[in-house]
Amino acid sequence: MAHLLSLHVFLSAHAHETSSNPMKPSKRTSKFSTSISTSKKGVLNPSHKTQKLNLEVSPHRAVSAVRLMRIQFGGAFADLLNEKGKGSGDNEMGYVERTLGFRPRDLDDRDLRLVTDIVGGTIRWRRYLDHLIGSLCHDESMFRSMEPLLLQILRIGFYEIVKLNMPSYAVVDENVKLAKVALRPGAGNMVNGILRKLVLVKEDNALPLPKVEGDDRAQARALATLYSHPVWMVRRWTKYLGQEAAIKLMMWNNSDPSYSLRANSSKGITRDDLVMQLNSLKVPHEVSLHLDDFVRVKIGLQNVIRAGLLKGLCSVQDESAGLVVSVVDPQPGEEIIDCCAAPGGKTLYMASRLRGKGRVHAIDINKGRLRILGEAAKMQKVDDIVTTIHADLRIFADNSALKADKVLLDAPCSGLGVLSKRADLRWNRRLEDLEQLKNLQDELLDAASTLVSPGGVLIYSTCSIDPEENEDRVGAFLVRHPEFRIDPVDGYVPSDFVTKQGFYFSDPVQHSLDGAFAARLVRTS
Ligand SMILES: C[S@@+](CC[C@H](N)C(=O)[O-])C[C@H]1O[C@@H](n2cnc3c(N)ncnc32)[C@H](O)[C@@H]1O
Repeated sequence: MAHLLSLHVFLSAHAHETSSNPMKPSKRTSKFSTSISTSKKGVLNPSHKTQKLNLEVSPHRAVSAVRLMRIQFGGAFADLLNEKGKGSGDNEMGYVERTLGFRPRDLDDRDLRLVTDIVGGTIRWRRYLDHLIGSLCHDESMFRSMEPLLLQILRIGFYEIVKLNMPSYAVVDENVKLAKVALRPGAGNMVNGILRKLVLVKEDNALPLPKVEGDDRAQARALATLYSHPVWMVRRWTKYLGQEAAIKLMMWNNSDPSYSLRANSSKGITRDDLVMQLNSLKVPHEVSLHLDDFVRVKIGLQNVIRAGLLKGLCSVQDESAGLVVSVVDPQPGEEIIDCCAAPGGKTLYMASRLRGKGRVHAIDINKGRLRILGEAAKMQKVDDIVTTIHADLRIFADNSALKADKVLLDAPCSGLGVLSKRADLRWNRRLEDLEQLKNLQDELLDAASTLVSPGGVLIYSTCSIDPEENEDRVGAFLVRHPEFRIDPVDGYVPSDFVTKQGFYFSDPVQHSLDGAFAARLVRTS
């Protein structure tokens, strides 16, 4: 095949890393591999790194398959990989080479967008895709014993055909090629057989999907497959919201996330300045209806990152988190304690609203995340009013005389309000986590309350939509602490974010934002 190009290029770099990686498939031979060796100045240096370039395989599929492996087995977060724009970076291509045994050509912008879409979508739709793949395999054991890389390639193919409606002949062809080169010819044949079956049932409008029928459990299982969520989440949301609202919530979680940017007013950047920059980058955007400094961006975040706008001009922050800061209502000259501050989104926004006068004491147990906060404070020029304190809040509160009129506890939580952005989170959370988190939230609330001066306010917030982490924690706190009362958030946030009990709540479906909650609790004595 004249068009088969595969180069062995020796570059002046680190020694070639042979695979001690458990994700790496066993030694493979491929008819696609023709090797050409080159070296700088014609000298073969043993420390040179081997890079085997394959220009045949679709690069976005190869990179997507490896990202999916890393996310599922290596704990790498889908959103982190995307946000950092590492798609075309050497880091990632190193992983690709070690996992697949070759590297494809570098990704261009279009490939990068495809990787982001395919990785995010394949993770979100995992349960749904696996149900289809399992149904079209010869038998259950074939699916259960499928090697991880082969399964990722099939998931990508199924997602492209069923959810992206990409031309099926190209999807089959490209994924078969990837399986053959990355694994072996037999794996390619298997991908070919299963994807072709899918194409046929799709054309006949006969995808093997479950019906929503039977008792509550059976219905929850069917919905969990159809909308690709864990069964426990479906049961919980059906109980709290009803089936129709639970379905809408799952549809929101499965939709492409939108992001908001906050203009960094501490550096004198206005929203108009930010809008001008976005216009010049041709990034479509809408100004926030709720917050003066915020702009919403649906697509094009990669361009914003690449143009360096996040290096001080603006930061990525959801409006739902910005509205928590509105509930705190920082005023110039105030001292604020931020009890669980890292990585600092709210600390930095609060600091910017102090207009150079006052102080934010940023406490967190996680040293690494606190360091990121400190660096961001420098970049955003608020480091003169932000102090970082590395501590467990529970121990700090017992031993410190620090008190403030405003204390924010943005508690560790399930993150059930941010599932559209954190594609992988739904698969990592278990129902048992909630019990542990609720205990921790109670302990942190007790600790934070001791830092509030008489007459001061404790603001409790989460990025959860679960009443047991929100209203119920506040209710339990007020029983333990009759010296506090609820101060309704009317006047701090727009009225459609105010609940009957006077709390702030952003509802993903209703407000098209992440889910978030906040309560203002005033110390009366
Ligand atoms: C929801 S995140 C905070 C997000 C942050 N407020 C922001 O807006 O960027 C919760 C934080 O609580 C911290 N945390 C958990 N347990 C803690 C403890 N016992 N004391 C202090 N911080 C704790 C975690 O390290 C994590 O950074």
